[in-house]
Amino acid sequence: MFDRDDELNKLRTGLGYPVTLLLGIRRSGKSSLIKVLMSEEKDVIWIYLDLRKYEGYAYITYKHLLNEFERALNTWPKFLRELLRGIRGGVIISGSGFEIKLSWSKDRVELADLFDKLSSISEREGRRIVIVFDESQELRKLKGFNILYPLAYAYDNLKLSFIFTGSQIGMVYRFLRLKDPSSPLFGRAMFEVRVNPFTREQSIEFLRTGFREVGISVSNNLLESVYDELGGIPGWLTYYGFNYLQFGDHEEAIKRTLEYAVQLIRQEFENFLRGGREEARERYYA
Ligand SMILES: Nc1ncnc2c1ncn2[C@@H]1O[C@H](COP(=O)(O)OP(=O)(O)O)[C@@H](O)[C@H]1O
Ligand SMILES: [Mg+2]
Repeated sequence: MFDRDDELNKLRTGLGYPVTLLLGIRRSGKSSLIKVLMSEEKDVIWIYLDLRKYEGYAYITYKHLLNEFERALNTWPKFLRELLRGIRGGVIISGSGFEIKLSWSKDRVELADLFDKLSSISEREGRRIVIVFDESQELRKLKGFNILYPLAYAYDNLKLSFIFTGSQIGMVYRFLRLKDPSSPLFGRAMFEVRVNPFTREQSIEFLRTGFREVGISVSNNLLESVYDELGGIPGWLTYYGFNYLQFGDHEEAIKRTLEYAVQLIRQEFENFLRGGREEARERYYA
């Protein structure tokens, strides 16, 4: 991890609050920060939910959400998984592998009950439990279930912490509806951490460090022009470096990075439109 000490320290502070928002545009390094935090804070029991995979979906369901929890809980060590026994509505712990299954049809597991259980595990173990919703704005597409109620319940009553990351910053606010008096989360304070693109100096140092790691020396001019073309988003600088390594050519590496970036941004924009209401779409497009 290059730099980002401030952001990491803020995130650590955030672990002491019920909710932290980690906001920054795509490829700014949010997931990387979370992964570093997870690997450093071994005392925390982590539940990491990757919602990015639902980006292309028109909507997601309660089943998808429970599936994500199921996947995350199954990464826990066995002695912790065993403690999940006894949640109302069917936690099945099957076979000698102690695999967790959360039932979602009849007798479905209610999120509030799961949160209750997690909170009591946290108290019993004397360890904080942190639930990460990575790319949380995807949850705005959740149909037939309002996740804000169990979240508000947990915020007010339980000993759990949440981290919501988001690339579409406005969408995260809109999903949480903090300023809407009819929202369950209305007025709740949240700790906010922003991940900004690197400055010019940081970007150049980042590239130089990366090239040094692979034993390539490059001129200042080259690094300057990479920043001029791509700006300071770490993901694109990294992608440029990766292409430069492959092709050994600046122009080619820039070209490939831009092509890929444009494709990705187009896809993201389409996804953004998909999340909007029919009548708003035309306006968003404009
Ligand atoms: N501080 C950093 N140090 C080194 N590499 C980074 C850093 N931040 C981002 N990257 C690189 O950029 C890529 C995109 O970052 P990522 O964490 O996936 O962004 P986000 O989750 O915000 O979309 C990562 O895979 C990693 O290669
Ligand atoms: Mg990410």
